Amino acid sequence: MTDTQKYILSIDQGTTSTRAIVFDHDGQIVSTGQKEHEQIFPKSGWVEHDPLEIWRNTRSVVGEALTGADINRHQLAAVGITNQRETAVVWDKNTGEPVYNAIVWQDTRTQHICDELAGDEGADRYKERVGLPLATYFSGPKVKWILDNVEGTRERAEAGDLLFGNTDSWLVWNLTGGTNGGIHVTDVTNASRTMLMNIDTLDWNEDIAEDMGIPLSMLPEIKSSSEVYGKGRKNDLLIDTPIAGILGDQQAATFGQACFEIGMGKNTYGTGNFMLVNTGEDLVRSENGLLTTVAYKIGDAKPIYALEGSVAVTGSLVQWVRDNLGLIKSAPEIEDLAKEVDDNGGLFIVPAFSGLFAPHWRSDARGAMVGMTRFHNKSHIARAVLEATAFQSREVLDAAIADAAGEGVELTELKVDGGMVMNETLMQFQADILGVPVVRPKVIETTALGAAYAAGIAVGFWEGEQDVIDNWAEDKRWEPAMEDETRDRYMRLWKKAVERTLDWVD
Ligand code: G3P
Repeated sequence: MTDTQKYILSIDQGTTSTRAIVFDHDGQIVSTGQKEHEQIFPKSGWVEHDPLEIWRNTRSVVGEALTGADINRHQLAAVGITNQRETAVVWDKNTGEPVYNAIVWQDTRTQHICDELAGDEGADRYKERVGLPLATYFSGPKVKWILDNVEGTRERAEAGDLLFGNTDSWLVWNLTGGTNGGIHVTDVTNASRTMLMNIDTLDWNEDIAEDMGIPLSMLPEIKSSSEVYGKGRKNDLLIDTPIAGILGDQQAATFGQACFEIGMGKNTYGTGNFMLVNTGEDLVRSENGLLTTVAYKIGDAKPIYALEGSVAVTGSLVQWVRDNLGLIKSAPEIEDLAKEVDDNGGLFIVPAFSGLFAPHWRSDARGAMVGMTRFHNKSHIARAVLEATAFQSREVLDAAIADAAGEGVELTELKVDGGMVMNETLMQFQADILGVPVVRPKVIETTALGAAYAAGIAVGFWEGEQDVIDNWAEDKRWEPAMEDETRDRYMRLWKKAVERTLDWVD
């Protein structure tokens, strides 16, 4: 690092868009580049992305962010990567061409694979080893689907020509040289979402890879979340710049929110909602439908674990109202529409578009709108859409509280981040339904920020977690104001609505 290297670049490869953000030493945003990519829905329940489009967009947003900050790569101390987790890319290392589109975490096509793998032992067959139930959400079964269904790929994989990765690995391989010596790595947090990594040893689990028919040669090397993996490739925007941090996006947000103590948690409101609670160096196994996952590992330090409540559909329900129903023109308009009514009038929407994730793990569920009468109008729908996010978050918080109670941990407030936290109506309702204060930080781009910190710590730009704590600042806090009786009634009705969505898939 030199005196002129005053910034860190973070690349946030998310489900709907890719962003590049330049941060300064105070953890403040200097400039941003952003580009959406196409959501490809070949069939009901299938969701794909084009990995080449994601790579093109990455280069374009990096250029945009550097231009916006009026800097070049010489002023960057390091680059951090954060990404949508579980989304599986398989590509040919000789040509750099993906063999199929990326299969996105929301995609449900692998249901039969998961059922077959579960066999008589059930969905928790691998849970002890990987911390996860067998579900369409995770990468391993998606890779198996590609090898089973895309002609010639199994032979090519067995010959050692194909590589697999979540989008972090895909980007790092391309950023560091691609077919010209690109490095094939991932970090412990991404690896912990594949169903292939042993959650204790942090190594690939050969038996499970074999059960899924995935050759080990396809798998990236598992690294920590904060170390120099490689440098930007020749003749490119980031030539020679250290790529020094990788964190799955939800783990990155946990890091950026400075949730470093046991029991500290955050909830990110993106296309889905993801609540993570730090459990320290101890690996806690949930009794209540949460995932055991790696929160982060800084260089040679011990890994820090988390319990996670993943909710598949929250922000993407607002997008569906915008794009498929046409009730609003832009996502923030949902708040104005919702505010036209005082309450949901008894209307509930359970957005089980990809089945139900935590704490239910019911892939046989599909979405429902219940309690409808002739009285309801589009404002009630808007209200029910927002409330669905809050109810689902309450369900995972209840699970986290139940798990944490066994560990003697108390949750007293919830830090929030992500795009939807600008929606004040939702935030107040969230605090009301949770019964604990909800706290929004000044910088809500905590996902990108967390990856920036991981990269910056690796190169000495920041010293460590204390810098993250010092830079974190509260912006706004919502206190619960709802009567207990009202809250209980809402949750009773919500649970009834959830029951209506179960056992729907034939
Ligand atoms: O597990 C999926 C998650 O990583 C996606 O996050 O922010 O792209 O909705 P996001």
